[in-house]
Amino acid sequence: TGSGPLTGKKAIVTSGPTHEPIDPVRYIANRSSGKQGHAIAASLAKLGCDVTLVSGPTQEPAPNGVDLIKIESARDMLQACENALPADIAVCAAAVADWRVDIEADQKLKKDGSGQMPDLKLAENPDILATLSQHKDKRPSLVVGFAAETEKVIEHATAKRERKNCDWIVANDVSPSTGTFGGNENTVHLIAKNQCEDWPRLCKSEVADRLAQKIADHMKEDQEH
Ligand code: C5P
Repeated sequence: TGSGPLTGKKAIVTSGPTHEPIDPVRYIANRSSGKQGHAIAASLAKLGCDVTLVSGPTQEPAPNGVDLIKIESARDMLQACENALPADIAVCAAAVADWRVDIEADQKLKKDGSGQMPDLKLAENPDILATLSQHKDKRPSLVVGFAAETEKVIEHATAKRERKNCDWIVANDVSPSTGTFGGNENTVHLIAKNQCEDWPRLCKSEVADRLAQKIADHMKEDQEH
């Protein structure tokens, strides 16, 4: 562990999908690979940052030099993030399930042969990015969210940044033709208040390195003011 521009800073990074249990053997999930979130955790750590990576189930190896906390559900992810506070930086790259099943069955739901389907009621999950961005006493000084959009990417992401009260949004175009989901490349725009940068098509690891460098530059400026 050498020193870098983020030495002495602490970051929380969320990554991967969440799994929302239906019963002991079934869950609701999504296709997030965790590639982008894990890469960001690795890039921040390379700059000397103390990183807690809170991740849902993924195939990605644990990045070097990162404190990995594995969770399954959105509620577990929120709890793990709260436990990791205080932090200077939060990057929410996880694809958190919007809904969970209201009441998890404690036994496997059975097909009873009558043709009757289980009536799964959904409940809304907590929004981790919004919770961290609006935290009363422990808001990280820089909170970064992601926005996966298939149309009007910048317009929708700008609205999302304002709604959630985060500082930056990394907006990516995930329309099926881009191959972003599960792929190794990403085309993103970095949106801040009154500012939008268009980045070229890059590997997810290059997006992560650039973002980590931006974060380091920002933290330095912050300190100088
Ligand atoms: O609202 P939407 O899901 O499109 O916003 C995406 C951003 O919000 C991502 O940064 C994602 O990690 C974060 N998010 C979250 N908790 C949720 C839903 C989204 O942290 N429940």
